[in-house]
Amino acid sequence: MLQLRDLSKCYGGVPVFSQVDLQVAAGEFVAILGESGVGKSTLLNCIAGLDSVNSGRVLVHGTNVTVLPETQQALFRRAHLGFVFQAFHVLPLLSVAHNVGLPLLLQGRPDDARVQSVLAAVGLEGLGARLPETLSGGQLQRVAIARALVHRPQLILADEPTGNLDPSTAERVMDLLCAQVRREGAACVLVTHSRAAAARADRVLTLTATGMSEGPVDAQPDKAQDRTRNPSAAPA
Ligand SMILES: Nc1ncnc2c1ncn2[C@@H]1O[C@H](COP(=O)(O)OP(=O)(O)OP(=O)(O)O)[C@@H](O)[C@H]1O
Ligand SMILES: [Mg+2]
Repeated sequence: MLQLRDLSKCYGGVPVFSQVDLQVAAGEFVAILGESGVGKSTLLNCIAGLDSVNSGRVLVHGTNVTVLPETQQALFRRAHLGFVFQAFHVLPLLSVAHNVGLPLLLQGRPDDARVQSVLAAVGLEGLGARLPETLSGGQLQRVAIARALVHRPQLILADEPTGNLDPSTAERVMDLLCAQVRREGAACVLVTHSRAAAARADRVLTLTATGMSEGPVDAQPDKAQDRTRNPSAAPA
């Protein structure tokens, strides 16, 4: 379903990651760990075609999406992708229900019953008419998750989807992601610092500057260095 081949990314000549290889089958759930600033969100953006790669290929069903024209990339996203952004990216002027229903509307098949059922599944029943600004951070995160799943996408990219949630809501959200993978045969790439969330995946990988390695990182997440804020810090 999804294949990354020798993917590299630089910003202004500064390498973020290189030599990233990954293969995710339909119906498979992969979690990617890695310290802050290593490029996890950048990698998901590159897979989605929302950011460009410097070299390598992103193959979805054998098609290299990195070389598709922008319009084709947008159509690919609309048809096949559910993306849970780390920063939510909900539209502030649309109600919660309209935000969640947007992927269905863009596909020309609005379905209010489906919107209401996904809102209920993430524990937001009754909040559909509200504007995003009236929601808490954890509620906004669940709006973003509902929007990513409402159109039953074949590829789910989820960036820290449980980062703002209490443990029991986080587990409920993970149940929902797992159900999408198992029931609909979707492929899911989850990026997270949460060991509990990663434990739900079929495979756990770690992104480093020099590629993807099998298994979780050895260091505890709270000891991981933040390369963004303190690039010269020595490992603890
Ligand atoms: N548009 C950009 N221009 C320049 N540098 C960028 C840009 N976006 C991200 N970066 C840098 O690329 C690196 C990777 O960022 P990214 O957001 O992918 O990290 P991350 O692994 O998702 O971190 P976190 O766990 O904190 O979310 C960081 O050093 C960041 O500062
Ligand atoms: Mg990130």
